[in-house]
Amino acid sequence: MKIGVLGTGMVGQAIAGRLVEAGHTVMIGSRTSNNTRAAAWVESTGPKATQGTFADTARFGVLIFNCTSGVVSLDALKMAGETDLNGKILIDLANPLDSSGGLPVLAFCNTDSLAERIQKAFPTVRVVKTLNTMNVKVMINPQLLPGHHTVFMSGNDPDAKSVAARILGDLGWKQESIIDLGDITTARGTEMLLPIWLRLAGALGHTKFNFHIVVGESSKQ
Ligand SMILES: NC(=O)c1ccc[n+]([C@@H]2O[C@H](COP(=O)([O-])OP(=O)(O)OC[C@H]3O[C@@H](n4cnc5c(N)ncnc54)[C@H](OP(=O)(O)O)[C@@H]3O)[C@@H](O)[C@H]2O)c1
Repeated sequence: MKIGVLGTGMVGQAIAGRLVEAGHTVMIGSRTSNNTRAAAWVESTGPKATQGTFADTARFGVLIFNCTSGVVSLDALKMAGETDLNGKILIDLANPLDSSGGLPVLAFCNTDSLAERIQKAFPTVRVVKTLNTMNVKVMINPQLLPGHHTVFMSGNDPDAKSVAARILGDLGWKQESIIDLGDITTARGTEMLLPIWLRLAGALGHTKFNFHIVVGESSKQ
């Protein structure tokens, strides 16, 4: 599949690289067409990798990943352009973290989420929020951790969530590890895991961990 990855940071590069390894053709997108991080990634990845602007990348991809800084993701998506995003699946893994003063804090939460803001700004885009609750090394290589652990998913479109689940499979995720939380408003819950995620990273002293939801028998019957 032709996939556009918006974002040239470590997450964009890691996701894009893993997707190429899984057989996809990937363009990585930036504010500029000649971003040097993207150029180095293309050079080291080979013929299935290209770079472009956010707009080039939205045009290229049948499916799009949002790997931009969460507090400016709406700006990046506006640069990508509504026309080229319309109707497409957008996998949003960004967190709206404000890192301007010490430990990052969510720029907004409780009654709102980045995923909802994206869905509201681009009503025909099929937004799926997933992968935002773990470190990038775990995202692209869940086998890094022993046993079962969880990846959450939120979105309004069931078909888009099925496609996103297949893409998670390409990244190495077992289908039974996915918990579909429901519509896009449920992304409030996963974005609000970031404060505890950050404190776990502090307490454990590293980022090689993930959430694992243990589910018992339902008592409703
Ligand atoms: N690090 C992790 O393990 C992890 C885990 C879960 C989720 N995430 C999320 O993944 C996302 C990417 O993280 P990252 O550390 O790889 O990169 P980042 O530094 O958060 O974002 C880099 C991207 O944001 C774009 N950007 C920066 N300022 C912009 C602006 N004013 N307007 C438009 N675009 C702008 C950059 O564009 P240029 O290419 O033009 O520079 C670049 O492509 C974040 O939302 C983060 O919360 C990260």
